[in-house]
Amino acid sequence: MSEIRLETQGLSRHFGALVAVQGVDFKLGVGARHALIGPNGAGKTTFINLLTGVLPATRGRVLLSGRDISATVQAERVKLGIARTFQINRLFRGLSVLENVCMAVAERVGTAGAMFYPAGRRTDIIDESIQLLQTLKLADAARHRVSELPYGRQRLVELAIAIGLRPEVLLLDEPAAGVPSAESHIILDAIEGLPEHIAVLIIEHDMDVVFRFAKRVTVMVSGAIFAEGTPREIEANPQVREVYLGQAGHAATARAHHG
Ligand SMILES: Nc1ncnc2c1ncn2[C@@H]1O[C@H](COP(=O)(O)OP(=O)(O)OP(=O)(O)O)[C@@H](O)[C@H]1O
Ligand SMILES: [Mg+2]
Repeated sequence: MSEIRLETQGLSRHFGALVAVQGVDFKLGVGARHALIGPNGAGKTTFINLLTGVLPATRGRVLLSGRDISATVQAERVKLGIARTFQINRLFRGLSVLENVCMAVAERVGTAGAMFYPAGRRTDIIDESIQLLQTLKLADAARHRVSELPYGRQRLVELAIAIGLRPEVLLLDEPAAGVPSAESHIILDAIEGLPEHIAVLIIEHDMDVVFRFAKRVTVMVSGAIFAEGTPREIEANPQVREVYLGQAGHAATARAHHG
């Protein structure tokens, strides 16, 4: 693998007696297009929460470009270049779409206290934000409150915010979940259009998306890495088919890919 951007060593997270993530050694290269798949409850979201600092690890380390960030709080990790979307969206629902994106862009360009100024004074920030909204086919909704948008478009706003941070590492937790299939290609197009150097890790249940996007796939089962390889290797792995690809609920998408 090329230069490593993000790495975990023996990363574990317990919830009481439950071991949600256990001893995960994982590497995400510069410019990676990597998918994390696995059954419900496998620990995928918990793993991303450990990478972003939403949750502290019980054991193990997280390294960003070789630097140990295990003890670094979430807001600092964002500043260091780790951005994410959530499985359930977290937006300022009472603010407009444009305001939400402007806040992310302003945070990145480091206008200290930007929150206390009307975003309307910063034309550079607004221009960039509008451009981002155009990319995500959201320009027509720029002045709408997030709460007025259908859920699928709210998820696009969330993606716009993550991209607006211009991260080194982008972690996407089921970005297309709840998005009508007619719109899900907008999300995938946006992800595929990201600058090449960004390391992208996507949690995704839709195998068509995984096989279209990912160059590497990690399968997580019961909190541990079960298999890792190219999409082709993962698809051909009989154990993976048994524990994940072949299971009810995923059979259709797995079949569709083969069909
Ligand atoms: N805050 C928490 N407190 C207690 N248990 C938790 C917590 N978060 C997750 N878990 C448990 O940890 C395990 C892993 O959950 P996680 O959400 O990481 O799975 P997942 O792979 O993202 O699943 P899905 O595909 O359904 O999103 C599950 O058994 C879950 O119930
Ligand atoms: Mg999850």
